Formats: sequence, C-alpha cells, structure tokens
Amino acid sequence: MMNLVIFGAPGSGKGTQSDRLIDEFGLFHISTGELLRNHIAQDTELGRLADSYISKGHLIPDDLMIKILEDVLDSNPYRARRGVIFDGFPRTIAQAEALEKMLEARGAGIDAVVGLEVPEEELTQRLIKRGQREGRSDDTPETIKERLNVYHSTTHPLREFYTGKGKYSSVDGTGTIESIYSDIKKALSHLNLQPNEHSIDPLINS
Ligand code: AP5
Ligand code: MG
Repeated sequence: MMNLVIFGAPGSGKGTQSDRLIDEFGLFHISTGELLRNHIAQDTELGRLADSYISKGHLIPDDLMIKILEDVLDSNPYRARRGVIFDGFPRTIAQAEALEKMLEARGAGIDAVVGLEVPEEELTQRLIKRGQREGRSDDTPETIKERLNVYHSTTHPLREFYTGKGKYSSVDGTGTIESIYSDIKKALSHLNLQPNEHSIDPLINS
C-alpha cells in the first residue's frame, strides 16, 4: 500500500494533480473537501454542520474530521488496496498524528508528502476565477482570504512536521499542469510507483 499526501494552500492544484496520479497509478483519492461538499449537496446532517465552517473558510473540528476519515478508510478496503492519495488531509498537527496512528494500525504509513508551492497572488486569482466559473461557495474574495489565513496559521506548520520526518518534497506549483505533474513524478521517483495496468471498476469490487 502506497500512501501519498498532496499538500498545499487553497488553489495550489491538489485536486488537479491528484486526478492525474489516480489515472496513472490507480490510487484511491480521498479529498476531504469533496467529501464534505457531497454531504452539503445531499443536505445531510454532516453537510449542514460542515457548511457552517466551510462557508466561513474555517476548518471542521479535528475530532469530527478524523472520525470521518477513519470511516472512509474502513469502508473502502478494496479501493484503498493499492494506496491512497490524501488531498486536503491532514490540515493540522493533530490530524497528522491521528493519520499516522490510523495507518500504523493497518500496517502502513505515509510514504511521501508532495507540497505544491504557488505564490499567494496566483492562488487568489485562480480561486476568484473558479468562483466566477463554477460558483463554489467558498471561492468568494472574503472567504478565500480567510482560507489562506487558516492555511498559514494552522496547516503550513505541517511542512516542518513532514520535513523533520524526511518525507516532504517541495514542487513548484506554477506553470502548466503537465510540467507540474512531471515534476511531481520526479519527486516521487524513489518510490518506484507502478502504473495501474488492470483497472477494475472499484465501486463494484469494494
Ligand atoms: P478543500 O476542498 O480541500 O479546499 P482547499 O484546500 O481550499 O483547496 P482547493 O480545493 O480550493 O484547491 P486545490 O489545491 O485542490 O486546487 P485545484 O486543483 O482545485 O477544503 C475546503 C474546505 O473544507 C476547507 O476550507 C475546510 O473548511 C474543509 N476541510 C477540508 N478538509 C478538511 C480537513 N482535513 N480538516 C478540516 N476541514 C477541512 O485548483 C484550483 C484552481 O486552479 C482550479 O480552477 C484549477 O483548474 C486551477 N489550476 C490548477 N492547476 C493550475 C495551473 N497549473 N495553472 C493555472 N491554474 C491551475
Ligand atoms: Mg481541492
């Protein structure tokens, strides 16, 4: 099982680059933001609670977020068999420590953390553009500012956390999507990732 964390500020390209890694290597994509947005779209109890944090650009409390993640891992053993790309999780030191324990209990660990580096001005421009195009509720100028503040105060320290463990690779997240993807693969070359040749419908087999 190969477990990767794709790390970076809001708008740095975590989702965009995860899509490519999943296609090529058959990893299971866990995006905590997408998961919460699905709950909001379905108007579940969790969705209503999540919306009250997301719309302000604040983080969902650690206890709840950690439990949600553990449930996803427990209920998708087949999809996670080759490994997982964690996108948007962990976002706090408490989440990183919990993730380590969860994976350890499953005989695994985090193999690498790829951090996408993008200047703040470009992040803001990308998110404002997406807000106008797709209308994601947290892509408004005020909420974007708050998301970036939360990133700097609470999430950015994970860079040190994973650097200290020798797992962090920094990748320039500006330029074309293809050139960034190629740099990500270079940063992961020591892991000897194997292309996914036999793709099986994961939903049927999980
Ligand atoms: P989440 O969904 O994780 O959002 P985020 O971290 O703010 O990041 P985004 O999804 O906006 O950006 P991205 O890095 O995926 O970039 P993308 O590829 O989309 O979280 C949302 C909220 O949920 C949080 O604020 C929090 O409230 C809650 N939450 C989630 N996880 C949580 C957790 N673990 N704990 C607590 N709360 C949690 O790209 C962005 C845009 O740029 C796109 O339009 C894309 O097309 C464009 N783009 C991508 N690459 C390039 C490029 N190379 N050049 C130009 N444009 C590009
Ligand atoms: Mg995303």
